[in-house]
Amino acid sequence: WQNMTVQQLADSMGKDTDHVFECMLYIKGHNTDKYEEEDSIIDNIEVTKEIVNKTGLRFKFEEQGNKEAEQDMDAYPRPPADPSLLVKRPPVVTIMGHVDHGKTTLLDSLRSSNVVDSEFGGITQHIGAFSVHLPDTNERITFIDTPGHAAFSTMRSRGAHVTDMVVLVVAADDGVMEQTKESIKYCNQAGVPIIVAINKVDKQEADVARAKQDLLVAGVHLEEFGGEIQAVEVSAKTGFNLIALQEAIIAQADILDLKSDVTGPVEAVVLESSTHAGRGKLSTALIQMGTLRKGMYLVAGTAWAKVRGMFTERGDTVQEAPPGDAVEIIGWRELPSAGSQILQVDSENRVKEVIAWRKKQQEKLKSKQDIAEIQKKESEHQ
Ligand code: GTP
Ligand code: MG
Repeated sequence: WQNMTVQQLADSMGKDTDHVFECMLYIKGHNTDKYEEEDSIIDNIEVTKEIVNKTGLRFKFEEQGNKEAEQDMDAYPRPPADPSLLVKRPPVVTIMGHVDHGKTTLLDSLRSSNVVDSEFGGITQHIGAFSVHLPDTNERITFIDTPGHAAFSTMRSRGAHVTDMVVLVVAADDGVMEQTKESIKYCNQAGVPIIVAINKVDKQEADVARAKQDLLVAGVHLEEFGGEIQAVEVSAKTGFNLIALQEAIIAQADILDLKSDVTGPVEAVVLESSTHAGRGKLSTALIQMGTLRKGMYLVAGTAWAKVRGMFTERGDTVQEAPPGDAVEIIGWRELPSAGSQILQVDSENRVKEVIAWRKKQQEKLKSKQDIAEIQKKESEHQ
């Protein structure tokens, strides 16, 4: 371990040297400037350990459009967090299903059922995610309401799953359709558990038994047929059984035993970004690790923020956002792109270093691609 070169360390981790260099940017309190070349000897054992154990496995950077780099990035295992630091967090839920089966109506009903309880009542702004409190318990659920969204395809292509489970909406008058099957396929591939919401049961034409039969044929093994998947009959329109649906989600969350490290550096994902007249650059972020607070420095791709404030969908200011929460963040100097990973860094200096590094990487990548392009053209000429 001691006195390895950057190259040797990278080799021993099965990663390339760029990974090691980027890791160094996240190491606090060490002067890592002296390890700038591939044959620099890392003579500080603590630096080596930290690269290998902690930050080394945590960092990620985006190289847009570079599939190879994305795959490599996905190969990074997350370090096992200290179990004593893990705290229960709310489940993050996405709604999927066929066109017109009632996804938007269901989200609206869930959202407004929650807003009614609120003393502020009413004015919700769209931030791409909202949180629901179950009556008489402390249980909370975070819903993401952008299933077909660009952020999702970016995250999907990276194999990064922001969602803990999917509520699959199947209209009882229509049964399993093309996009229902696609959603099932996606969940199975991604290993994301499904809860079925059999919707529109208020309709005359509703045929719940047939919908369940369809699901069975599509490989969705419902509890009542000896499988493991819960199905709840609901009406998004009348609000019938929505509490039962939320309870099913909490039951599934308990099985998944969802916990996160609330201490340590913040990691989050950008769900949406926009520029707002008067309020400036905003993004909605889903917090995955750590607790976000005002004043923190964040990097997402080559964009960065010093957090000036955080808001819920109802426009309430929050002082901190733990894992499982989605909040709107203000303070971005540049807009981060949807789907990109947010990492907390120590200081504005670190921000500058990380961004400079990432830009350099992007340029390197681009010149590699340019060279490949020229070589290709030349060989075509001959
Ligand atoms: P896309 O976004 O186009 O894929 O559709 P969606 O899945 O979001 O469906 P949406 O919520 O827009 O609902 C489609 C239609 O079904 C609307 O006219 C809704 O009013 C109606 N609808 C949704 N849920 C129910 C329900 O529980 N009962 C009845 N009767 N109608 C419903
Ligand atoms: Mg819709």
